[in-house]
Amino acid sequence: MLMRELVEERSFFGDLTVQPADGLLGLIGLYRADERPGKLDLGVGVFRDDLGATPVMRAVKAAEATLLRDQATKSYLGAEGDARFVELLADVAFGAGSDRLTGVQTPGGTGALRLGAELIAHSRHDATIWIGAPTWPNHAPIFREAGLPVQTHRFFDVANAGIDFEGMMEDLERTRPGDVLLLHGCCHNPTGADFTAEQWRQIGRLCESRGLLPFIDLAYQGLGDGLDADAAAMREMVRDVPEAVIAYSCDKNFGLYRERVGALWVQSDETALVRGNMLALARSLWSMPPDHGAAVVRLVLDDPALRADWAAELDGMRARINRLRAALAACDPRLAPISGQRGMFALLPLGPDAVDRLRRDHGIYMAGNGRINIAGLTMDSIPAFVAGLAPYL
Ligand SMILES: Cc1ncc(COP(=O)(O)O)c(C=O)c1O
Repeated sequence: MLMRELVEERSFFGDLTVQPADGLLGLIGLYRADERPGKLDLGVGVFRDDLGATPVMRAVKAAEATLLRDQATKSYLGAEGDARFVELLADVAFGAGSDRLTGVQTPGGTGALRLGAELIAHSRHDATIWIGAPTWPNHAPIFREAGLPVQTHRFFDVANAGIDFEGMMEDLERTRPGDVLLLHGCCHNPTGADFTAEQWRQIGRLCESRGLLPFIDLAYQGLGDGLDADAAAMREMVRDVPEAVIAYSCDKNFGLYRERVGALWVQSDETALVRGNMLALARSLWSMPPDHGAAVVRLVLDDPALRADWAAELDGMRARINRLRAALAACDPRLAPISGQRGMFALLPLGPDAVDRLRRDHGIYMAGNGRINIAGLTMDSIPAFVAGLAPYL
């Protein structure tokens, strides 16, 4: 028999399972094709100004100009990326340095989460990752793809538009020592509902008493109540627990989305061992992170004038979001909880049919689960938005 006859005709890739398309990317196409003048894009999770633009921040532009003029080489850095970037960013995130923290640059917050997941999988392959429901849709896949089991616990009660803290604590009674608790540092995506300082303390005590590793995802520092205020709970928890993992994204608070800028820190007494493993894993995942965005953040944070200008522009972005929150909440008592929530997102109590109708009848685009990007609104568009929404609340 000829070898050729033994060869299967089917594709090498035929056994792959069909993957659902990214819902938000599909929405972008529909929005673009919509010719109605008053259409509203509340879907994609990027900051927008009053004109609906997502501009490059002033300090970023200035740092890019400096980089273009002065950068002398594009030779390789190491797997840790830009060490000075990590050092300066640690100051923003933690306020003060600690020799129990070790950090490396990563491709965005996603890269930081994945590197943290791989590190956990290599040290405790049977650790369960506990994630509140609902959460950013990429959380569970990131940990699952690293081979870790994922369990969800109660977090947000859509009907009451608030955190179901009792339900959460009850569900976490099922954790085992060595499990991991994923927490949003601030500006929860998709609900905007953040823990109070007291709830953070209770979670910290729970982690200690049940032997859980807190894994904090800090992707929106500065977009809630301020740079220090947004990190305060995370800082206190990190100070009070023996070990912690912190994934950081600069893609929102520096508006660097596509440049992929982030960092991962681990707090432990085993920093040398942990760091060696982080670097080995990073080497096989992406060898080294992309340089440009991190170099820009380094230049901004290293120059007092640029740093102040970045912080001032970020203050303006946050103020815009919180003004919109207050205006939206004042329109209808059922939207009142939105003023107390923080960050770009709010989760409305809408089923898929209502989300669909709002898109078809009113040109209002939002994620399929009812998540809206508050920054996609303007003071002028709020009345029409609330009028369209009201029948479905
Ligand atoms: C909660 C949360 N974590 C992490 C990320 C990832 O950010 P990045 O774009 O830096 O990968 C996002 C992005 O939307 C997010 O919402």
